[in-house]
Amino acid sequence: MRILVTGGAGFIGSHFVRRLAATGVDVVVLDKLTYSGNPANLEDVPHEFHQGDIADPEAVARAGAGAGAVVNFAAETHVDRSILAAGEFITTDVVGTHVLLEWARQTGARFVQVSTDEVYGDVADGASREDDPLRPSSPYAASKAGGDLQVLAYVRTYGVNASITRGSNTYGPNQYPEKLIPLFVTNALEGEPLPVYGDGRQTRDWLHAADHCAGIELVLREGAPGEVYNVGGGEELENGEVTRRILELTGRDESLVRHVEDRPGHDRRYSLDTSKLAALGWSPEQRFAEGLADTVAWYRDNRAWWEPLKSGEYRAYYEAQYAARLGS
Ligand code: NAD
Ligand code: TYD
Repeated sequence: MRILVTGGAGFIGSHFVRRLAATGVDVVVLDKLTYSGNPANLEDVPHEFHQGDIADPEAVARAGAGAGAVVNFAAETHVDRSILAAGEFITTDVVGTHVLLEWARQTGARFVQVSTDEVYGDVADGASREDDPLRPSSPYAASKAGGDLQVLAYVRTYGVNASITRGSNTYGPNQYPEKLIPLFVTNALEGEPLPVYGDGRQTRDWLHAADHCAGIELVLREGAPGEVYNVGGGEELENGEVTRRILELTGRDESLVRHVEDRPGHDRRYSLDTSKLAALGWSPEQRFAEGLADTVAWYRDNRAWWEPLKSGEYRAYYEAQYAARLGS
């Protein structure tokens, strides 16, 4: 079956395209190539590529011709950017999802929405289950929750064959250097400061991109319509501990750490109950200790991938985000 992967030139999407292509699946990618979309992520991966916007019905129809399924990774994804300006998040994550759902409704295609644990909001104790209420804290999380609710409404109202995955914080090679791990790893490699928000005691549940993609593929093939599946790494660490490990792996010391002004609305903790996906046969294979070491090695060995990214648009973003925080 031909499979449409939207956002396939981004971080997780490109791991997914690589995974499908390796088993001979016919993959077509639709990607707008925003700041985080990078054709270099798909070098040497057999696929058909269309540059275009998921919020544009004609672009979706053109790329989707002949596809029997769509897996939607396309999104604006960075919480801190959503705090600076939320408009694009709503256009892509809500309206774009709606346009893809309309296409699936018309063609009968299977649909998988790649969502996030952030839609549940803060979890003080215990772990989020799929039917827990959605309490998004950031404009990003609210946009993803809006997309999820559209998906569930299209299943119920029009019988679209759609499922949702909600992954936890994902890491690995090819991640644009704005999120915690790739930002801190590349900054540490360059001897630049590591801006830890607030007290650094916020907790995230780390999931390797390969394990995340395995979970999404299983849901694509065996997930039930209208069902949501949590995909979590089961490796909960405070940001301060992740920072400490990155310093160790890059041969740097604590002098690079700056405790800076906290993120507004910052969620303290995410945690996922993954028993529903486990019942389909999924479990994460990568331990964080090894996965992080491999990821640091990848960034050390692939400076040609990330150094050019840390200029132009990135510098403007970095200044807007960190200049006041770092006092530079
Ligand atoms: P990313 O920013 O690396 O990639 C997003 C991709 O979508 C880019 O290639 C970009 O060009 C493309 N894109 C953006 N707007 C588009 C549009 N309007 N039309 C077509 N393409 C568009 O993001 P990622 O980290 O790979 O995240 C992929 C998906 O996984 C997102 O839906 C995100 O919400 C979800 N997710 C991410 C994480 C994480 O920790 N990174 C965790 C859970 C879920
Ligand atoms: P991030 O990678 O942006 O993912 P999310 O906010 O979607 O969980 O951030 C992970 C954690 O790291 C989060 O608690 C915010 C924190 N953080 C910092 O302390 N400093 C930074 O520069 C960034 C980008 C994140």
